[in-house]
Amino acid sequence: MKKIVIGNWKMNPEKVDEAKKIASGIVKVCKNLKKTEVVICPPTLFISAIAETLQKTKISIGAQDAFYEPKGAYTGSVSVAMLKRIGVKYIILGHSERRELGETDELVNKKLKVCLKNKVTPVVCVGEKVRDAHGYYLAFIKKEIEHSLAGVKRKDLKDVVIAYEPVWAVGSKALKAIEASDLSEMVIYIKRTLTDLFGPAAAQSVRILYGGSVNKENAGEFFNGSGLSGLLVGRDSLDVKKFGDIVLLTEEVASIK
Ligand code: PGA
Repeated sequence: MKKIVIGNWKMNPEKVDEAKKIASGIVKVCKNLKKTEVVICPPTLFISAIAETLQKTKISIGAQDAFYEPKGAYTGSVSVAMLKRIGVKYIILGHSERRELGETDELVNKKLKVCLKNKVTPVVCVGEKVRDAHGYYLAFIKKEIEHSLAGVKRKDLKDVVIAYEPVWAVGSKALKAIEASDLSEMVIYIKRTLTDLFGPAAAQSVRILYGGSVNKENAGEFFNGSGLSGLLVGRDSLDVKKFGDIVLLTEEVASIK
């Protein structure tokens, strides 16, 4: 199975021309990848333009959110099928910055099911706001996974990606990235939780990514024996050189294994 590196551009850059320039740069760096899938998630408005830039390349286009209804009176919303029609293959769901604006596990769950139905890969973000000494954060992650994946069929789990993004490690106000050893523990914990819910085989088929202050210095160590399938990169995905280095490091790791 290929590793995945997803670039979450958030509400950046400001202009479509800049966005196209970054995407073209990423295309060049990613020319010879064999073991790594790269996904770019630009702001919704730029998706069509970037999809065009990515035509005939192996890089996929993703979205940062979608609504669960197919059409209707939902001002400001865009459906999964609409995004799929313009080429979207991955949709990030429940990112902490959206949860901060009111996104709930229940909404994530509805959106996830619509993604699966439309054969678009959902990238479900989970992550605790703080780490406490008693391990309550583990129960929090468990609840997020249980609620977000409620009612999902076992056979569909291979099409689900979970991005573990501890909120304290995400964005420019982040304290720091996670320690590699803590990440390994969390990947095991997430797989355990999935095993309890869906059984061992289905649990193993879910791809687990890490996100939160990923950069070229720390990207390699996250894969060390952690069973991690890839990375979700925010800030550094807007810089061709930095993102390229993260992707190439991932390709190197994927080629060894
Ligand atoms: P960051 O963001 O890499 O800037 O910390 C990650 C994310 O929000 O997905």
